[in-house]
Amino acid sequence: MFQASEWAGRCLLSRSDLKIPEHIAVIMDGNGRWAVEQGLPRTEGHRAGEEALMRWVRAGRKLGVKEMSFYTFSTENWNRSVSEVNFLMNISKEIMVKRAPEFIDLGCQVRWVGRKGRIWSSVLRELEVIQEKTKRCTDMVLNFCINYGGRAEILDAVNEIIDNASAGKLKKVTEKSFAKYLYSPTMRDVDLLIRTSGEVRTSNFLPWQLVYSEMVFIEDKWPDVDESTLIRCLEQYTSRDRRFGKA
Ligand code: FPP
Repeated sequence: MFQASEWAGRCLLSRSDLKIPEHIAVIMDGNGRWAVEQGLPRTEGHRAGEEALMRWVRAGRKLGVKEMSFYTFSTENWNRSVSEVNFLMNISKEIMVKRAPEFIDLGCQVRWVGRKGRIWSSVLRELEVIQEKTKRCTDMVLNFCINYGGRAEILDAVNEIIDNASAGKLKKVTEKSFAKYLYSPTMRDVDLLIRTSGEVRTSNFLPWQLVYSEMVFIEDKWPDVDESTLIRCLEQYTSRDRRFGKA
């Protein structure tokens, strides 16, 4: 007899008809609304969201996805209530400590993608620790975008380029050399962007890397997603004709 989770894993691996994106980026939306619907505080939605995140990381690994990026805290999220911001900073730290052994078991190389500055220094410390602990893991890159904003990322890159140009180190930039100034210079272009909870927008997430990505918007709220939800998204991705501007 299979355990339920083992059975789900076998079903996933048997889907040889699916195209597997190398890089999936995820806007995990709907935690707050999910919690309110259950009569719980919004923060319980983020707790449930952590479990959903782990379900998709495990599923992504089983499917052979090479890179996954999760939008966990945007530069705009500082406008939330102090208690929610505190909760999100604390849970970020907690996840990096608590989930490190599983990330290592799964072969995930964790990377933080975002802007320094407002992010708590205690969160940065835990991110540095987990990056160090997982730096030899090669099966999947796992990007946590915390204090991330796409415009901030592009502006930070432009300002560094201006500094280098003023110092005479640089004359012009190309698409390839510009990407070296982004927060994660080795990040692949995104093949598939998924946003949950019925909202249809990209909200300042990875604008440089998303230019040719396929986008799938689903009604499910983030805490409700599981392996089968990811498979549904991959079915849509598989049906798309990616032409990259060609006829
Ligand atoms: C969006 O839902 C979700 C967030 C802003 C936070 C997501 C964070 C987690 C799932 C915790 C995991 C954290 C790390 C560092 C791995 P929302 O609150 O905007 O939902 P709403 O639109 O229903 O209010």
